[in-house]
Amino acid sequence: MASSEGNKLWGGRFVGNTDPIMEKFNASIAYDQRMWEADIKGSKAYVKALQKAGLVTQNEMEQILTGLDKVFDEWSKGEFKIKPGDEDIHTANERRLKEFIGDPAGKLHTGRSRNDQVATDMRLWLRDAINTLKELALQLISTMVERAAVEIEILCPGYTHMQRAQPIRWSHWILSHAVALSRDVERLEDIRKHVNVMPLGRLFLCIYNFKRILYGLLRLNLFNQKYNKNTEFLFWASMCLTHLSKMAEDLILYSTKEFSFITLTDAYSTGSSLMPQKKNADSLELIRSKAGRVFGRCAGFLMTLKGLPSTYNKDLQEDKEAMFDTYDTVHAVLQVATGVISTLMVNQPAMERALSPDMLATDLAYHLVRKGMPFREAHSCAGKAVYIAESKNIHLSQITVEDLQTVSPLFDKDVSSVWDYNRSVEQYSAPGGTARSSVTAQIEHFRTWLQAQKQKP
Ligand code: ARG
Repeated sequence: MASSEGNKLWGGRFVGNTDPIMEKFNASIAYDQRMWEADIKGSKAYVKALQKAGLVTQNEMEQILTGLDKVFDEWSKGEFKIKPGDEDIHTANERRLKEFIGDPAGKLHTGRSRNDQVATDMRLWLRDAINTLKELALQLISTMVERAAVEIEILCPGYTHMQRAQPIRWSHWILSHAVALSRDVERLEDIRKHVNVMPLGRLFLCIYNFKRILYGLLRLNLFNQKYNKNTEFLFWASMCLTHLSKMAEDLILYSTKEFSFITLTDAYSTGSSLMPQKKNADSLELIRSKAGRVFGRCAGFLMTLKGLPSTYNKDLQEDKEAMFDTYDTVHAVLQVATGVISTLMVNQPAMERALSPDMLATDLAYHLVRKGMPFREAHSCAGKAVYIAESKNIHLSQITVEDLQTVSPLFDKDVSSVWDYNRSVEQYSAPGGTARSSVTAQIEHFRTWLQAQKQKP
C-alpha cells in the first residue's frame, strides 16, 4: 500500500495517515514562516558547504542557489503560497525549491536535519532582532538624555516610599531611568555576541566529519546553546520591560491632577467614553503592563525547558511564539516610550510647588554636622525641629532661631541659608548626585556612551 504520508519529508517509514487534528497540532508554519529569510540564507550557506565537502557538484549547487533565490523572491513579493503539507518553514521552502529545480533539491538536506535548521534560523533571526531592539533602545536613551540636558534647571521632589524625601533635579530622575536602560543595552550586546557565533561552522563540521558520523555529538552543543540564547533573550526582555514599567508608573503618577507634574500629549493619551473631562495615560499603562506579558512568556518557556532531555525535542517548537511575541512587544514598547518621553510637557511650577521645607530636614542636620556635631546627634536635633514645626503648625523654615537654639546651641542666624532648594541640590556634587555639575557629567557620559554604542559594528 502506498503511504499517504509518502510526500512528507519524513514519510518513508509511515503507512497510516496523520489525524488532521494532529496535523494542525504539529504544524508551526503559521508562525515560523516569519523566519523565511533566515531559512533561505542558512540553506544558501549550507549548500556551499556541501559543495566544498564534495557532496553536491558545482552544477547542483548553482541550481540550488538559483532555486533558493526564486523562493526568496516569492516570499519578498508576498507571493509565496503555503500548501497544506507545509508543516514548517523548512518544509515549505524545500518543497518550493523542489518545484522549481526538481531532484537536485533533495540533496540540500544531506547531513542536516530540521533541528539544525531551526537552530540556525533562530540565531539569524535573533541577531537581526537584537540589532533592531538595540537601535530603538538607543533612540529612547538619547531622547531621555537630551531632555535631561534641556531641563536641567527644573527641580522636583525626589520620593522614597512615595513620600517626599529630598529635592532633586528633574533631569536626575530622567537619568536614573536612562542608567537602567543603558545597562540593558550592554546586556543585549552581550547576548548578541553569543548569538553571532554562527552555527554554520558546526554544520560544516557535520559535513566534514560525514563519514565518521559525528552528528549526534555535534548537535548536542548546538541545541544546548540555542536554547540558552533564547532564554537569555526572554530574561533580558523581562528585565528591560520591568525597568520601563517602573518608569511608566512614576509618570502615570506624575500625570495625575493631584501631582500635575507632567501632561501627556494627545498622541499618547486616550479619552473616556463616559467622562468627557478625562485624559488617560493609556500609553504608559500599557508600557507598565507589558512587563507582565513578557515575563509570562519567559516563565512559560522555562517551564517547557525544565526537565527536557538533551538535544532536540518537539517541545522546543514552543520557543517561537514566545520569542516573536516578546520581540514584537519590546519593539512596540521602546517606540511608544520614546514618543511619550519626547512629547510630554513638564509643569515646572507644579513641580516646584511640591517642594516643601520639611524636605530640607536632612540639610538642617548637615548644617549641624558642618559645625562639628556627629551625624547621629544632628539627625536627632533636626527631628526635634521637625516636631516643633509640626506642633506649631508652621513650616520647618519658619521656626525662629531662638526655638532652634532650644534644640542645639549650635544653631545660629546662618541657619537661614539652609532654606534654599537650589542650594540644597547643589550640595550633592558627588558622581551620580543631583548637583548641576554631577548631572552635567552624567549627560556627557551618556553622550559619549551613545556615540560609542552607535559606532559598534
Ligand atoms: N518546526 C520545528 C521546530 O520549530 C522544526 C524542527 C522539527 N524537527 C523535528 N524533528 N520534528 O522546532
